[in-house]
Amino acid sequence: MSNTRIAFIGAGNMAASLIGGLRAKGLDAAQIRASDPGVDTRTRVSGEHGIETFADNAQAIDGADVVVLAVKPQAMKAVCEALRPSLKPHQLVVSIAAGITCASMNKWLGEQPIVRCMPNTPALLRQGVSGLFATQQVSAGQRQQAEELLSAVGLALWLETEQQLDAVTAVSGSGPAYFFLLIEAMTAAGEKLGLPREIAAKLTLQTALGAAHMATSSDVDAAELRRRVTSPAGTTEAAIKSFQAGGFEALVEKALGAAAHRSAEMAEQLGQ
Ligand SMILES: NC(=O)c1ccc[n+]([C@@H]2O[C@H](COP(=O)([O-])OP(=O)(O)OC[C@H]3O[C@@H](n4cnc5c(N)ncnc54)[C@H](OP(=O)(O)O)[C@@H]3O)[C@@H](O)[C@H]2O)c1
Repeated sequence: MSNTRIAFIGAGNMAASLIGGLRAKGLDAAQIRASDPGVDTRTRVSGEHGIETFADNAQAIDGADVVVLAVKPQAMKAVCEALRPSLKPHQLVVSIAAGITCASMNKWLGEQPIVRCMPNTPALLRQGVSGLFATQQVSAGQRQQAEELLSAVGLALWLETEQQLDAVTAVSGSGPAYFFLLIEAMTAAGEKLGLPREIAAKLTLQTALGAAHMATSSDVDAAELRRRVTSPAGTTEAAIKSFQAGGFEALVEKALGAAAHRSAEMAEQLGQ
């Protein structure tokens, strides 16, 4: 990325996080530009990261190798159609907008090399994970650029098909909320068992963090880790049996299926 010039269209939360990540990785401020209609947003992002900002999207992409579309999905059609006359065929378009397909972008932008990504909220803390899909027109060098861009805010994983982005949305895109739900439920259950709420919350959060660290640093999978902490007829087994009697696995499968279905449905609606 040492010579890559990147333009962000939309300088909101996700763009600011990516810009911060890129700067932390050593990209020069002069390599990055951003455009946004909000004067306060432009002042904030240029103040924090020392980059040049623009009110005009076409001006921001002039001379860029990579154009990152970081506006809300609802704004994508208008933004793409307005950018179309200014885009050069070699410019890589990276979209982080949820639910906007490559076919829709090609329709609005013309034939451009496109990488469509699905990051998640922890990207704001550079602890995210993203699924990436590239169209046929994307070169090996451009794949590398997109991967380095998303790696600035966490893990970046390539997908074989665009449809898999619906599954990524279901697993990691919406995933932080599932863990928040479990944290809420465990905290409430701890309180019911007689703990002060604050203690129950701290125990739950530190346990979530510790378990995630164990699972990411271990060379065995989560199922094996669970077996290792589940003694026969012990306390953990009592809880796990109770989860399973309530259909835990089937419920998780159903919930993620509903999210994937909704993701495909939204892509259909937003692509009109
Ligand atoms: N945040 C996440 O965790 C997350 C996760 C996965 C995917 N995403 C995707 O990332 C994208 C950005 O999300 P975000 O959370 O960063 O949203 P955000 O904070 O609202 O940022 C979007 C920015 O784009 C600006 N904008 C609106 N119209 C524009 C235009 N025509 N040209 C240039 N900029 C324009 C907005 O300005 P105004 O506010 O003035 O309209 C806003 O500053 C979304 O498509 C979302 O689906 C986000």
